[in-house]
Amino acid sequence: MNVEIRPQRISDAKRYFEILSSPNFHYLPAIPKTLEEERCFLRLNSEKRRNGTEFNFSIIYNGRHVGAIGVRLDTFRPYIGEIGFFVDEQYWGRGITTEALIKLEEFIIEKTDITRIEIRMAKQNKASQRVAVKGGYKKEGILVQMLFIEDKYFDCYLYAKIL
Ligand SMILES: CC(C)(COP(=O)(O)OP(=O)(O)OC[C@H]1O[C@@H](n2cnc3c(N)ncnc32)[C@H](O)[C@@H]1OP(=O)(O)O)[C@@H](O)C(=O)NCCC(=O)NCCS
Repeated sequence: MNVEIRPQRISDAKRYFEILSSPNFHYLPAIPKTLEEERCFLRLNSEKRRNGTEFNFSIIYNGRHVGAIGVRLDTFRPYIGEIGFFVDEQYWGRGITTEALIKLEEFIIEKTDITRIEIRMAKQNKASQRVAVKGGYKKEGILVQMLFIEDKYFDCYLYAKIL
């Protein structure tokens, strides 16, 4: 399997908007409503990268841009990083995210001082839980009403790995 990650580019906006327009993305906060909104998000990346607060990557599978994965550092505890990811639904179930997670962890170890990585997902989000388990993350507990999407609260599981 050929999975690579590379820093997101502003020119990725159209493809991201296409991927995120799927009606089957249920538990993802902050889905862009317009292409311009997606461009705005991508424009902020270079500053976040410079400040060392967030590192977002595009996932490339066999040369095709299929998703995103990134890590955001906790403002007050910069040794904690929270990972988020998504993949085009056409490519689900091929192990792409699991592979991208390994690549992101290599980046984290090499380029940041993060010692604790967290992944949070809605309790209903079985695929994300499976990715966390396959990646060697341990379930630590439940975060009640952690996620707020379209007027509804969702409880989340907290998975973590100590580096
Ligand atoms: C979560 C997501 C990124 C996983 O991407 P992916 O590339 O398909 O992940 P992988 O193929 O590496 O692993 C997915 C695993 O979940 C399993 N899975 C998928 N749906 C499942 C379900 N309903 N119940 C149980 N397991 C499920 C797959 O079988 C696979 O496990 P396996 O390798 O043991 O068979 C993708 O589903 C997605 O983009 N979802 C929408 C956005 C989202 O929820 N992002 C995460 C927010 S925390």
